Amino acid sequence: MTAQSASDYIEIITDATPKTPAPSSDGPAEAPAPHAAGAAAATGNFESVDTATGKAAPAEVSSERVKGIFSDIATKYERFNAVSSFGAYKIWRENLVRAVPVDGTSDVLDVAGGTGDVTFALARAKHPRHIQCTDLVDEMLDVAREHYAAGASCGVPVDFQVVDAQNMPFPDNSFDAVTCAYGIRNMPERKRAIAEMYRVLKPGGTLACLDFSTPPLPAWNALYHVYLNHMIPFWGGAITGNRDGFVYLSKSIKAFPDQKSLAHLFEEVGFENVTWKNQTGGIACIHVAHKPAAGLAQKD
Ligand SMILES: C[S@@+](CC[C@H](N)C(=O)[O-])C[C@H]1O[C@@H](n2cnc3c(N)ncnc32)[C@H](O)[C@@H]1O
Repeated sequence: MTAQSASDYIEIITDATPKTPAPSSDGPAEAPAPHAAGAAAATGNFESVDTATGKAAPAEVSSERVKGIFSDIATKYERFNAVSSFGAYKIWRENLVRAVPVDGTSDVLDVAGGTGDVTFALARAKHPRHIQCTDLVDEMLDVAREHYAAGASCGVPVDFQVVDAQNMPFPDNSFDAVTCAYGIRNMPERKRAIAEMYRVLKPGGTLACLDFSTPPLPAWNALYHVYLNHMIPFWGGAITGNRDGFVYLSKSIKAFPDQKSLAHLFEEVGFENVTWKNQTGGIACIHVAHKPAAGLAQKD
């Protein structure tokens, strides 16, 4: 099977119907009301799961594990990616970059940016005004900083910052686009993280998210599970010396919501026109979601 087949490009529109009422004809459109999910994000009113099982668990269980894994494998992470995906991750990354509508005037936030793979690909392809590359783990960002120092952003200014995506320090309505590759799956309070991405996006802004997913064809899914159960821990252990980290990776992929369920999470915090495109038969998936434009009331 090729890394990218034509059928992967079938776009499924989960909900193209605006859920927001038109602005009142009695006067000027009102400023957006504080978003319910954003308000809840501030008060911590979100369920938390163990990202290895999908079952309810305190957030610290997953956060501490993920910090341990990524700080340990940071300098070997890129090699593992290249070897374990047979290069497919590059095609998926380029498709993600293509899906982000930015230009030379755009400010972009890369959430869970890790070693900067998406940040630098976006910088090279689209030359936005600025990229804020964030991650929970400073050791991952250290690798990104080295790439930046070597010129990886082709002159696009990038700042690096340790940020927990579930509680971001940025003001409301700050960014034209948010990218997140392989990040949400590792976050125990996923809905809170998505609500934060919504909050920091400018009205009319776009979230583009790439992550592993569920192949809809049973035979392909079964083959993929053999790969997840056996090959991923093998390659991960051999390349990074941290086999347990890659047993976790396989488990987290199996416990992660499928394409449709993830799209619903985006819609639940207020995103509209949520679409997705399967990559390599659904092994991975790119979701694109839009924050309603200014002047429209937002979903409660
Ligand atoms: C598989 S790596 C992906 C890195 C990068 N986006 C890429 O495409 O190569 C997942 C990243 O998510 C980060 N991460 C996990 N939980 C996070 C959180 N709550 N907030 C921010 N980053 C987080 C990890 O530290 C790790 O760098």
